[in-house]
Amino acid sequence: MNVLLLGSGGREHALAYKISQSPMLNKLYILPGNAGTESLGKNLTLQSDFATIARKCIDFRIDMVVVGPEAMLVKGIKDFFQRTVSLKHIKVVGPDKAAAQLEGSKAFAKKFMNTYHIPTAGYFEVNNKNKDKGLRFLDQQKPPFVLKADGLAAGKGVIICDNKEQAAASLEEMLSGKFGKAGKTVLIEEFLQGIEISVFILTDGKSYAMLPNAKDYKRIGEKDTGLNTGGMGAVSPVPFANKALMDKIIERIVEPTIQGIKENNMTYEGVLYFGLMIVDNDPYVIEYNVRMGDPEAEVVVPRIKSDLLEHLNAACTNSLDKETIKIDQRTAATVILASGGYPEKYEKGKIITGIDNIKKSIVFQAGTKKENNNIVTNGGRVMALTSFGKNLKEALKHSYSAAKKIDFDKKYYRKDIGFDL
Ligand code: AMP
Ligand code: GLY
Repeated sequence: MNVLLLGSGGREHALAYKISQSPMLNKLYILPGNAGTESLGKNLTLQSDFATIARKCIDFRIDMVVVGPEAMLVKGIKDFFQRTVSLKHIKVVGPDKAAAQLEGSKAFAKKFMNTYHIPTAGYFEVNNKNKDKGLRFLDQQKPPFVLKADGLAAGKGVIICDNKEQAAASLEEMLSGKFGKAGKTVLIEEFLQGIEISVFILTDGKSYAMLPNAKDYKRIGEKDTGLNTGGMGAVSPVPFANKALMDKIIERIVEPTIQGIKENNMTYEGVLYFGLMIVDNDPYVIEYNVRMGDPEAEVVVPRIKSDLLEHLNAACTNSLDKETIKIDQRTAATVILASGGYPEKYEKGKIITGIDNIKKSIVFQAGTKKENNNIVTNGGRVMALTSFGKNLKEALKHSYSAAKKIDFDKKYYRKDIGFDL
């Protein structure tokens, strides 16, 4: 098969790493990719609008498109391929536009969860027309107050405040366009106090297979303090996710979600990610994502021992029920090396040294590019250092040893990944 992989982060490097090992693969193209994916396939320097992607798919005889980030799925790339005669035969891994609303509209996701009795935080939906009712709802809540822009806001659409006046002011700002169209509708949510876990399935829309679970560390600072980031590290499996908890997650969340997808005739052929909060041993959905997580992919994907491309193909051909996904029982951990200043202002173009000295970890590159025979930084999250171990401690030891060996000016990483496990 010829595969086109869309995206440029550590997640896409991890997907490229695994797909490139498949006996089913003929040629792998990555759009746009990074300095790491370059050694696994051909990076394409092109616009990423649907028309350009379509032309290249025909030129390169692409059989499957794997979509890393959510934006194109929410825009309807799968529907575009399905309704274009010359592209119909190409499999697009992911949901159609209707199903991608599970991530693309938090209000849609809430209604879906309520219809299928899927546990989630209580909420109130506010827009400019019912703002007064929204403020009254806020009045009835206890702090902290959770406000969420309905649409995609590049991971910045959730505001949590301790103070009611501040929450009311933030609501006002969001409704007046702070997040553009994404914030025209805002959800005020009940705050859930607990511990988070990311759960992943691969589905063909009818049946599903569990993928390894993971925990990511979103805050920039140690002990989960400071600003939210794309993710500063991850571990898989999550030690507290025992069979009893996973059974509850499957019964109360995964199964009814699949039921809802079926009943709504949505097309879903890809990974579905459940962002969960565990409160007193009971799981609640914080959010759905219609793709793999990043940096979760950097620990989940390497733990898949069987052929990922074969599994993705099964998801696109309604034959997932015949697949057995084999999982490595060891623990994987990943530590992100970031550019100092991230997630706010940071510099780019710093020369990265030491990658070749890493023997006990896998280096998944993210914000990197090649420049005059050097690999230089090109983003906030620069790379993910993934290691295996017989337990979390051993896996982390290898990742931290690699973090010391790789260097670039203003390198920053959290030294406490897994601290709460
Ligand atoms: P999201 O962008 O939906 O993943 O939200 C970002 C982060 O905000 C989540 O990872 C949680 O840590 C936190 N969060 C979101 N919703 C809630 C909630 N209802 N209660 C507590 N924390 C939340
Ligand atoms: N790690 C969080 C995300 O991928 O959305």
